[in-house]
Amino acid sequence: MGTNRQLILTSRPDGRVSLANFEIRDSALRTVQEGEVLVRTQYLSIDPTNRIWMSDRPQYMPPVELGTVMRGFGIGQVIESRKPDFQPGDLVAGLLGWQTHCYSDASALRPLQKLPSGLGVPPRAFLGSLGMTGGLTAYFGMMVIGQPKAGETVVVSAAAGSVGSLAGQLAKRHGCRVIGIAGSPEKCQYVTSELGFDACIDYAHEDVGTALDRLCPNGIDVYFENVGGAILEAVLARLQLRARIVLCGMISHYNDKDVLAGPRNFDMILHRRARIEGFIVSDFIARFPEAFAELVPLVLSGQLKYREHIVSGLENAPAAVNMLFDGKNLGKLLLQVAPDAAS
Ligand SMILES: NC(=O)c1ccc[n+]([C@@H]2O[C@H](COP(=O)([O-])OP(=O)(O)OC[C@H]3O[C@@H](n4cnc5c(N)ncnc54)[C@H](OP(=O)(O)O)[C@@H]3O)[C@@H](O)[C@H]2O)c1
Repeated sequence: MGTNRQLILTSRPDGRVSLANFEIRDSALRTVQEGEVLVRTQYLSIDPTNRIWMSDRPQYMPPVELGTVMRGFGIGQVIESRKPDFQPGDLVAGLLGWQTHCYSDASALRPLQKLPSGLGVPPRAFLGSLGMTGGLTAYFGMMVIGQPKAGETVVVSAAAGSVGSLAGQLAKRHGCRVIGIAGSPEKCQYVTSELGFDACIDYAHEDVGTALDRLCPNGIDVYFENVGGAILEAVLARLQLRARIVLCGMISHYNDKDVLAGPRNFDMILHRRARIEGFIVSDFIARFPEAFAELVPLVLSGQLKYREHIVSGLENAPAAVNMLFDGKNLGKLLLQVAPDAAS
C-alpha cells in the first residue's frame, strides 16, 4: 500500500531547530476506515509558528506533544476516501503534519477543508497570497486591526516576507505612505522596486531609529509588527498620537529560552494614547470569504505581488524553519513533499 514517512518531535529545541529534535519514522499505510480520508501531502507551509509549537511555553494552541508527528499546515490531494463529501483527487488544506500522508483524523484541531475551486489561482496560493501565513493574515491584521487611513504613515517589519510583503501592499492600496523594514539591501530593493513600498530600511546595515526619524518625520500611525525586539522599541519611540500596533508576530524571540522581556519603552503606548492588539488569523475563519473576495482579483490581476520560495524534501523541514530565522527566504517559504497534482 505504500509508506508514510513522518517527522516525530522527540525533544524540544534548545534555541535553533535541529533534525536531531526529530525521529524519521516510516510506517506502512493502513486501510482507510469508514469516515476517513487519506491525503498525500504536496506542500507544507514552513511558518515561524512551527517553532512556537515545538516549544512548551504558553501559546495560542497546545504545544506539539513529544512523540507525536510535528504539526504543520499544508495542502495535499485525497488519494482514498470513505467520507461522502471527499473524493479521490480533491485538493485539501489542513493541519496535515510533517508527514508524506495524513489520515483525516490526524489532527482534531482543525478539520480538513477542500480548497475553493474555480477561482483561477494555483492551489499553492492557499498557502501564500491567499493563505493563513500570507494574504489572510495580512488582510485581517492590516485592514481590520490596523485600519489604515489615506495619508497615514504605516511601517511594516519583515517586509520582504510572506505576511509583511502583502500587508504593506494592502496599506499602500489604501493611500498610505508605507515604509518597510528588512534584513538586506536586496530585500529592500525588492520591497521598494517590486512591491511599491515608499521606502525600506535595511536593519542589518542601518540604525532603524535614525532611518525612521528621516522617513517618518511626523511619526508612525500604524505599525504592522512581525519581529519584536529592538525594532519594536525604535517604532514605539516614534508613534503618532492614537497609533495602532498590529501585533502579528515577534519572530526575534521565538528561539529564546527565557521569558520574553517587554520593550523597555512600553510606556510610549500610554504617552501616545496608542492601541496594541494581538491577533491570530484563525480568529477570522468565518470571515475568510470576505478576504478572498478582496484578495483574489488583486492576485489574479497581478496588482498584489508576491513570491514563493520553495525547498523540497520532508527531512529538510527543520532546516527550512531555520531559514526563516536567518532571513534566507524571500516571500512565502514552502516545502514541497510530493509533485504537483493536476487540479
Ligand atoms: N498572528 C498570526 O495569525 C500570524 C500568522 C502568520 C504569521 N504570523 C507572524 O508573522 C511574522 C511573519 O511570518 P511569515 O510567515 O510571513 O514569515 P516571513 O516574513 O516570510 O519570514 C520571516 C522573516 O522574519 C525576518 N526575521 C527573522 N528573524 C528576525 C529578527 N531577529 N529581526 C528582524 N527580522 C527577522 C526575516 O527577514 P529579514 O531578512 O528581513 O530579517 C525572515 O525572512 C512572524 O512573526 C509570524 O509569527 C502571525
